[in-house]
Amino acid sequence: MQRREFLRVCGIGAAGLVGCGGSTGGGPDAPPASTGDFAVPPLLDGELVDGTRVFRLRLQAGSVEWVPGSPTPTYGANGDVLGPTLHFRRGERVRMEVTNELGVTTTLHWHGMQVPARADGGPYQTIAPGATWNAEYDVVGRAMTAWYHPHQMHETARHVHMGLAGMIIVDDPARSFELPSTYGVDDLPIIVQDRRLFADGTHPYSAGKTPGMHDMMAGLRGDTMLVNGRITPRAVVPRGLVRLRVLNGSNARIYNLGFSDNRSFLHVASDGGLLDAPVSTNRVLVAPGERVELLVDFSADAQGAAVELASYSGEVFGALFTGMMGANLGDALDRTTFRVMVFEVGAATSAIAAPTAFEPIVRELEADAARTRTIAMTMQAGSVFINGAQMTSLVNVPAAINFQIKAGEAEVWQVTNTSGMAHPLHVHNRHFQILDIDGQPPPRELAGWKDTVIIRPGRVVRLLLRFEGTPDLEMPYLFHCHILEHEDMGMMGQFFLVP
Ligand code: C2O
Ligand code: CU
Ligand code: CU
Repeated sequence: MQRREFLRVCGIGAAGLVGCGGSTGGGPDAPPASTGDFAVPPLLDGELVDGTRVFRLRLQAGSVEWVPGSPTPTYGANGDVLGPTLHFRRGERVRMEVTNELGVTTTLHWHGMQVPARADGGPYQTIAPGATWNAEYDVVGRAMTAWYHPHQMHETARHVHMGLAGMIIVDDPARSFELPSTYGVDDLPIIVQDRRLFADGTHPYSAGKTPGMHDMMAGLRGDTMLVNGRITPRAVVPRGLVRLRVLNGSNARIYNLGFSDNRSFLHVASDGGLLDAPVSTNRVLVAPGERVELLVDFSADAQGAAVELASYSGEVFGALFTGMMGANLGDALDRTTFRVMVFEVGAATSAIAAPTAFEPIVRELEADAARTRTIAMTMQAGSVFINGAQMTSLVNVPAAINFQIKAGEAEVWQVTNTSGMAHPLHVHNRHFQILDIDGQPPPRELAGWKDTVIIRPGRVVRLLLRFEGTPDLEMPYLFHCHILEHEDMGMMGQFFLVP
């Protein structure tokens, strides 16, 4: 099956994300904002140079008119906001050439990719204004949906919120299942982000602004929903099976996605690729940093029918926010149902059948672990901590969150959360498995490969991580809460792979 570039654009922005009007009717508790047509970020195949696939990304400032008449200054890659979807193939070598024209120092991290620490794009790999950073690595992981975003120390939340992020699709030419895979037609990137936009087009991370203490503790949430940079857009889909690659690129909001007619759908992949078999469900919880792939069947829908993708956040409020402290950390949308986007069934049809099984996933065994490490996520005294420590600079990182891990060894990470809200823990470079949650094996949709995992308040989650990779005594990898305000406050640590 051949992917092809299919851009449903209107307007002329380089990334095709600017200047579309359009509107749809209201929905249940819909955000009070206008809607636009669905935009598909361009698919970038790179350019083969001596056997290496080269991708060029220009980080640039731009603007988007989300508030009519009041353009919002933005960051994007090769365009005003977000960036192209990078198409990798397993087994290939890629080189990323990232030129920073933002006027501020930033980095670009390949979230979900297994890469040498020096190519990781974490806070140590800064790109000065005007500079170009080259990161070269082999695509060794499974087929999956990954993404890229800035990781500048103390500035990650701002740079992502300004609009810099993009999807990575890793294909495995040797293993293909009959899945919808025509990019932009029946295989859709769905980058979900929320924004708090003021009437003048600014937001809490606009130049000269900084979110207040409450937003730093709770994580910044907004009531305008963007999908691929458009406000609650409407996408036209074929009458058939459609794959949605959902990426939660929000700073802090967790979504509990489902459809307005309560239809069930198939959850087929987690962060690190396909599950062993599709899981039929009508809800999927997606935290910042996480990706899920869903198959939605529109074959029984009449042409012109519309169904909304919504977040049924109220259903999980009590599980994600607990106690008095938790109750203060959730916002109004966390307690209700709100619309994310609309799917309209078009004239085209597609006859791909729903899959029933993929490949077995060998369960990781606790017995293989060389040790158990404790990761305690806490909130106290107006801040956020891991193991009572904070990573607030790149020098003198406290020992409690600065690990030396023997390359090739497996470890159990026993993660606890005694705060009143859920924290999505992300580990760079490795996909891991969840051994158990409060002593129980994970549900099937969480039994595949993960790189970001929701740690609900009060829970004990044990992960099995196999630290394969190239030892490097000087350059560490990061692990952190993927609520970007928490990461910026230092809810982060690092580990060195040592020989
Ligand atoms: Cu998606 Cu360390 O980040
Ligand atoms: Cu990452
Ligand atoms: Cu957190």
